[in-house]
Amino acid sequence: MNPYDKTEMKFEKNILCIGAGYVGGPTMAMIAHKCLQYKVTVVDIDPERIAQWDSDGLPIYEPGLAEVVKAARGRNLFFSTEIERGIKEAEIIFVSVNTPTKTFGAGAGMAADLQYWEKTARQICQCAESPKIIIEKSTLPVRTALAMERILTSNDNAVHFDVLSNPEFLAEGTAINDLENPDRVLIGSRLTESGLKARDELVEIYANWVPRDRIITSDTWSSELSKLAANAFLAQRISSINSISALCEKTDASISEVAKAVGMDSRVGSEFLNASVGFGGSCFSKDILNLVYLCRSYGLNEVADYWESVVQINEYQKRRFVLNMMTAMFNTLVGKRICLFGFAFKANTGDTRESPAIFIARRLIEEKAELVITDPKALDNARIDLNGIDSNVSYIEDPYKAAAGCHAIAIVTEWDLYRDLDFEKIYRSMIKPAFIFDGRNIADHKKLFEMGFNVFPIGKPALTHF
Ligand code: UDX
Repeated sequence: MNPYDKTEMKFEKNILCIGAGYVGGPTMAMIAHKCLQYKVTVVDIDPERIAQWDSDGLPIYEPGLAEVVKAARGRNLFFSTEIERGIKEAEIIFVSVNTPTKTFGAGAGMAADLQYWEKTARQICQCAESPKIIIEKSTLPVRTALAMERILTSNDNAVHFDVLSNPEFLAEGTAINDLENPDRVLIGSRLTESGLKARDELVEIYANWVPRDRIITSDTWSSELSKLAANAFLAQRISSINSISALCEKTDASISEVAKAVGMDSRVGSEFLNASVGFGGSCFSKDILNLVYLCRSYGLNEVADYWESVVQINEYQKRRFVLNMMTAMFNTLVGKRICLFGFAFKANTGDTRESPAIFIARRLIEEKAELVITDPKALDNARIDLNGIDSNVSYIEDPYKAAAGCHAIAIVTEWDLYRDLDFEKIYRSMIKPAFIFDGRNIADHKKLFEMGFNVFPIGKPALTHF
């Protein structure tokens, strides 16, 4: 439905979001769902993506999202490719375009690629005819709101813009719950009269459903840096526990016992202490590398090294996983059929960005193994990720069919589905000796061992029949 046909309807506010991705789509759906008095339009340059948002086949999988979108779409939630018109009509514009890691030039592999973001800023500047509040929702290195402000104030017709930072903390797979019940909403602004007024306006939007004491405000720079720091802290916990998992595998300690004991210290807390094959996702590596780049550019080399080591441990953990497979399977994987259980970077999403599965698959292909990949939601993305190197890879959604005839299974994603499989049946269908490498520690290792499997958990002694 064309959002601009709804002129007869009166809405209290016109909200626009530029960028219909993982953040923009669900966040705007939630605002529309909670605030019937606002008209929310999501625009994107990609017509196919917009058509998907307007169909039953949404472009992303997120539990509960389809219901929220269906209820609001055509009522006060609209998707469109008419960016300029959207800019003209909106009083409040969220900018949620992607800021991937640069792949070229200075800062390649570390700094954020801001070309889409700058194009968007210029487009807002060209089209706007009335004052607007611009909200930075993409993850950006600190001090880019200032750059945004500079581009916007170079506007000839002197339209006034207030630029706010409102970092998104939602995690994939739990986005709807995170949006509905956020730990906190953070809004940064300039501390000028106009900046504070704009900030209050955004506070009012969230206050429609978020308790006031969870809406926190700060200056723009602190808000931007908080996002990078929060993700760096979370990723650091995973690298910390993963580094200890390597020591557990060499000794007789169990990482689950260690994590439990450490996490029960109320000063530490129990979450984000699951040892794994390594963290993935679009945010963690990207944000830490941004932080590292930022520290280096201010000459803070020790600080940069400290945070960089979080990413290095993550790379080490992925390498270690494949090396353990090699060692266990008699130092050769040539011609062996290996089934990857899961390809998404975490459960409950089809997203595979930075998924450890990509590294593992590549390495196994280099070792000339035959791969069978199974995942309930991520097979389309897996095909794209391995495009050009997958002549010895098959993609099979049914895990039983996928594992049949394999020498080994590697659990890469912690889908609940893999906890409840009939592993007796799977064992019978595999080549012996059968191996299972549990990169998420979700299986019942003792039971698998008793069935006949050789079991290799993360951070626990292996259970083998040799
Ligand atoms: C993260 C942040 O949690 C979120 O606040 C921010 O807005 C975006 O980045 P997301 O990338 O969606 O969210 O997923 P998250 O749940 O944080 O998991 C990231 C990775 O860490 C996944 O690969 C996950 O499997 C892994 N992980 C998580 C572990 O290996 N162990 C854990 O204990 C927790």
